[in-house]
Amino acid sequence: MNETEEVAVLRLGHRPGRDNRMTTHVGLTARALGADRIVIAGTASKSKSTIEDITSRFGGPFSVELTDRYRQLLQEWPGIVVHLTMYGLPIQDVEASVRADFESKPVLIVVGAEKVPFDVYERAEYNVGVTNQPHSEVAGLAVFLDRLFEGRELDREWEHATHRVVPKATGKLVEPADEE
Ligand SMILES: C[S@@+](CC[C@H](N)C(=O)[O-])C[C@H]1O[C@@H](n2cnc3c(N)ncnc32)[C@H](O)[C@@H]1O
Repeated sequence: MNETEEVAVLRLGHRPGRDNRMTTHVGLTARALGADRIVIAGTASKSKSTIEDITSRFGGPFSVELTDRYRQLLQEWPGIVVHLTMYGLPIQDVEASVRADFESKPVLIVVGAEKVPFDVYERAEYNVGVTNQPHSEVAGLAVFLDRLFEGRELDREWEHATHRVVPKATGKLVEPADEE
């Protein structure tokens, strides 16, 4: 994994109540698959606290912020913006170029819930389709992060966890984590 550059996810269009579960899953997927933080546009305090609870239990670093000024974040982002959309260019055609940019610039990945405003398409350096079929922001984000890190995120080490899962062929085991 690139150790020097940041990967952040911007979750747009969160509708309180209706999108709580999906926004939480966007955050958990971002965390599990190597992003450093998520910024959620709108009122999503329930999702924020669930993601933070998981991070304090199973480790980080990973941070969650809420914003009511996402356009400012997009304008001031110092690196590249990747907007995941079924209307974008196929991921397999642009992933090498995104990875080359990521060697020197932080990446902000934008996912929507409802209709994404058109200025986001215009701001993005890359509008990327994970297939050009409609599906889910969670699935799109997972595939994109895996292509960005080329699988290295699967071997990530977690810091400051209180618990860890012991992988088992059958059954479930969670044990207190040893901090060294
Ligand atoms: C359920 S979709 C709804 C999108 C909405 N109908 C629109 O046209 O903007 C929510 C989000 O999932 C993501 N998404 C859905 N299909 C995708 C695809 N094929 N590739 C990449 N992202 C996708 C996009 O980020 C999108 O904003």
